[in-house]
Amino acid sequence: MAPFGTFPYPYGREDALRFIQDASISIIHGTAYHFGVRLASNRALVGAAGMWDIDKDECSCEVGVWIGKEHWGNGYARSALILISYYAFKQVGLAKEYAKVMDFNSRSIAMLNTLGFIKDRDYRQIRPHYRNYVEENRYTIAREEFEGKYGNIDDIQVFK
Ligand SMILES: CC(C)(COP(=O)(O)OP(=O)(O)OC[C@H]1O[C@@H](n2cnc3c(N)ncnc32)[C@H](O)[C@@H]1OP(=O)(O)O)[C@@H](O)C(=O)NCCC(=O)NCCS
Repeated sequence: MAPFGTFPYPYGREDALRFIQDASISIIHGTAYHFGVRLASNRALVGAAGMWDIDKDECSCEVGVWIGKEHWGNGYARSALILISYYAFKQVGLAKEYAKVMDFNSRSIAMLNTLGFIKDRDYRQIRPHYRNYVEENRYTIAREEFEGKYGNIDDIQVFK
């Protein structure tokens, strides 16, 4: 199940309720975790971040982050994805994570590159997007690569 995989447009109340229901089921099954992104200063909710399609055999999951447009450019997505990665690698014990991105989403691609995600050469999908078709690519980072950039995960205590 990939509750964040595609968003209907326009996105209505029913879509939101279906997302909550699907997300709740996958959390119960241990195949997903979803978090709100809140500001430490005033607790304002500015976005959401999560991991889903957790594969215990492959030790992998998909990750994603969404920030409200009025809050873009403040580093919130980058911080949220670093925290999600700590959680995926340390708390859930996964070995790699990936994000799927439409090729026109240059903001997201720039963010993933900044964080050390590398484009998978063997993954390329064509997806319908409004009245067009767009290319979707996958960007991956392994636990060792993440640790090479941000330090040994076992030394980090952000969730304690
Ligand atoms: C992509 C998205 C999450 C970025 O959120 P954000 O909070 O603005 O991102 P940040 O401020 O943390 O910036 C992270 C990186 O994005 C890139 N970025 C930020 N602003 C940018 C801009 N104006 N132009 C191009 N790249 C930009 C940069 O690489 C930046 O890192 P840097 O500051 O070290 O250079 C946000 O635009 C969004 O929610 N988009 C819609 C949903 C989506 O595409 N999610 C991604 C699925 S994985």
